[in-house]
Amino acid sequence: MNANVSTAADSLLQQLGNRPRPKVGIILGSGLGGLADQISDALKIDYESIPGFVRSTAGGHRGQLIFGELQSVPVVAMAGRFHRYEGWTNDQAAFPVEVMHAIGADSLIVSNAAGGVSPKLAVGDIVILKDHLNWMGGTFQFNQARLIQKQGKESSEVIGGINRGQIYDQPMAKIAQESAMKAGFSANFGTYLATLGPTYETRAEYRMMRKLGADVVGMSTVPEVLVANALGMRVLGLSMVSNVADPDRPNVANHEEVLLAGQAAGAKMETIVRGVLRRGVLR
Ligand code: 6GU
Repeated sequence: MNANVSTAADSLLQQLGNRPRPKVGIILGSGLGGLADQISDALKIDYESIPGFVRSTAGGHRGQLIFGELQSVPVVAMAGRFHRYEGWTNDQAAFPVEVMHAIGADSLIVSNAAGGVSPKLAVGDIVILKDHLNWMGGTFQFNQARLIQKQGKESSEVIGGINRGQIYDQPMAKIAQESAMKAGFSANFGTYLATLGPTYETRAEYRMMRKLGADVVGMSTVPEVLVANALGMRVLGLSMVSNVADPDRPNVANHEEVLLAGQAAGAKMETIVRGVLRRGVLR
């Protein structure tokens, strides 16, 4: 383990004292912030006070790790994440995932707000990630052997007939979908396309993304997910459609609609996360 990771992990474990170690890591994207306030018996630790954490600057993000319980499962949630478009590297963006894993999390639930590329999507919809297209690029210092080996291992598993390049955990995704259905709404599987940002796309790019099979587009998630997968964590990815990326009808949603949809979608996200914690995550 990287020395910076163990230093951060040691510091957090010391502050945790005899509280249970987190079983599940949660990354709260825009729209899922509400869940942070529902974590019971919460211990909140500012990123600034954790050795090795860089300082989150993106507006509206709190910059805290929140330890506690949700659905009786010990969790650690990130309120605020590190984006590549802010200038952070893949390793800096994924560092908190390494730390969460080091202190006990074997599963990761990662959420984001994304543009809806598929014409089937509307503002406020939830998409359960089944795969991604990585257009962020960039290098990793992180355990490259492991990142690459993982790929090799899974390729060889194909010969045995399973799971090639399957980053997103299928049982978790299925439980997520069932949790939505039980609560009376639908959440479909989709492919997330990650751009570096910070700019949104041109209409020509949205047209291209549709053709390439992207359902949603955003500027986060992939660095965290790649590292989680290389560490052997189970990964569930959720996108909330915050705006529709329609090449033929740009910018139809007004701001108020987006905010309202965001609130409704936040509640949907919470329903799914609770459902998965209740049923899916503990091995
Ligand atoms: Cl439309 N594009 C990208 N790249 N990221 C986004 C987005 C769109 N909407 C939210 N995040």
